[in-house]
Amino acid sequence: MSVIPEFKIARFSIQAPFIFAKDPLLAIRRGFDACGDTFRLKLFREFAVSRDPAFFKQVLVTNHKNYKKGSSSKMLNPVLGNGLVTSEGDFWLRQRRLVQPAFHRERLQELFVTMGQITADFLHEMETFRGKKAVDIDAKMMGITADIALKTLFGNISHEDKMQIYHQVNRTQRYLVTRVRRPYRIPLMMVNGERTRFKTDLAYFNKLVFEFIHQRHGITEKPNDLLQLLLDSLDEETGEQMNDQQIRDEAITMFAAGHETSATGLSWLLWELARQPNIIARIRQEAEIFDTVPTFEQLLKLPYTRQVIEEGMRLYPPAWTMTRESLGEDEVEGQIIPKGISVFMSIYELHRNPNIWKNSLVFDPENFSLENVKNRPKFNYLPFGAGPRLCIGQQFAMMEMQLILASLIKRFDFEIDPSHHVGIYPQIVLKSTNGIKLFIK
Ligand code: HEM
Repeated sequence: MSVIPEFKIARFSIQAPFIFAKDPLLAIRRGFDACGDTFRLKLFREFAVSRDPAFFKQVLVTNHKNYKKGSSSKMLNPVLGNGLVTSEGDFWLRQRRLVQPAFHRERLQELFVTMGQITADFLHEMETFRGKKAVDIDAKMMGITADIALKTLFGNISHEDKMQIYHQVNRTQRYLVTRVRRPYRIPLMMVNGERTRFKTDLAYFNKLVFEFIHQRHGITEKPNDLLQLLLDSLDEETGEQMNDQQIRDEAITMFAAGHETSATGLSWLLWELARQPNIIARIRQEAEIFDTVPTFEQLLKLPYTRQVIEEGMRLYPPAWTMTRESLGEDEVEGQIIPKGISVFMSIYELHRNPNIWKNSLVFDPENFSLENVKNRPKFNYLPFGAGPRLCIGQQFAMMEMQLILASLIKRFDFEIDPSHHVGIYPQIVLKSTNGIKLFIK
């Protein structure tokens, strides 16, 4: 058995966290170029970084009990509480059983009606930008996916409450990520008002979400939304229900995990498609059948659009990495994964790994033709993760992205704004450095 090779990102170890924080994607790429598909990296703690499908399989499925989410998810606890993304062990399993029914096909079909109405309103809004100056498409996608997430979660929510939750949850997430990526800024955040703002934001949206929950107790006419499904769900084994705190944690988790990811996937895709007229033409042909508010049956008739979305998430996976901590020593392909190491699985690099993808950097939806999907090993493509902690919102997200993409392409053309530089800057999701500006035609 061999030791995973170490990649030294800087001459002096004290420099390493700063270099990594400045450009994480470049730092990781250099590691793969130097050491192959798995390497060790010392930052504030030691990581095993991988883009090897066998490594993903070992950690997420084969020996998943040897890995916990650990400190990277703990940092999100103040916002997400003990929801599905952050919880562990038996408690997580109980929650997963309670929440899973909310994402069954029949439920999703009902939620699709809400998605369709919101998308139709959004198309009207986009009409006002046609032929005008370039718009930040990422901000627009964040807007529509937040609308969908909040309406499918909380039903009839006022515009004011919606905007509060939207801005506050996003701000608090960013605050927590900065604390982890740039811990040397913590003293500054304590005096420059960022910490106070974080606490005020958190208190405010907690109050709002608890109000929504309390209003539901005792009502007879039950709304058709995710919050109600959470309130009604029963553990089949124990007959237990979730308490209000747990419902708050799951609702905020769904909002946080569910809107920025889909928005980011769509934004990168539109940016790519603005240079791909042939692909646009094929999507438009498929979307012919779409009514202004399409039906679920119409959605199922968009196989090519689905392929395009899958290829978009290959080159730009919104959840670009998954992390774990090893509880005991493990082994994959003759290499030792030491006990107590932080495991960093780069989905971004797995999907661009030249050893497993032909022309790995070329955008080509044929990668997802029936034939190619059938012949490809499962662990080469994991935008939604794998194993017991596979994304619970996968079908929701695919449905939402197909709906929005096909509706937009049916109606609009998109053009790159050459004066706007687009760069990737990975946060929790794969954001751009400075927005993604496109002309709408
Ligand atoms: C394009 C959109 C999305 C992407 C790329 C995505 C990706 C992922 C990934 C990779 C994981 C696994 C994380 C890990 O194992 O560490 C995950 C978990 C999760 N996702 Fe998503 N997701 C998306 C949309 C959604 C939506 C729409 C929802 C909810 C409405 C959602 C809710 C969750 C939850 C609750 C978990 C934790 C599941 C668990 O640990 O049991 N996601 N997602």
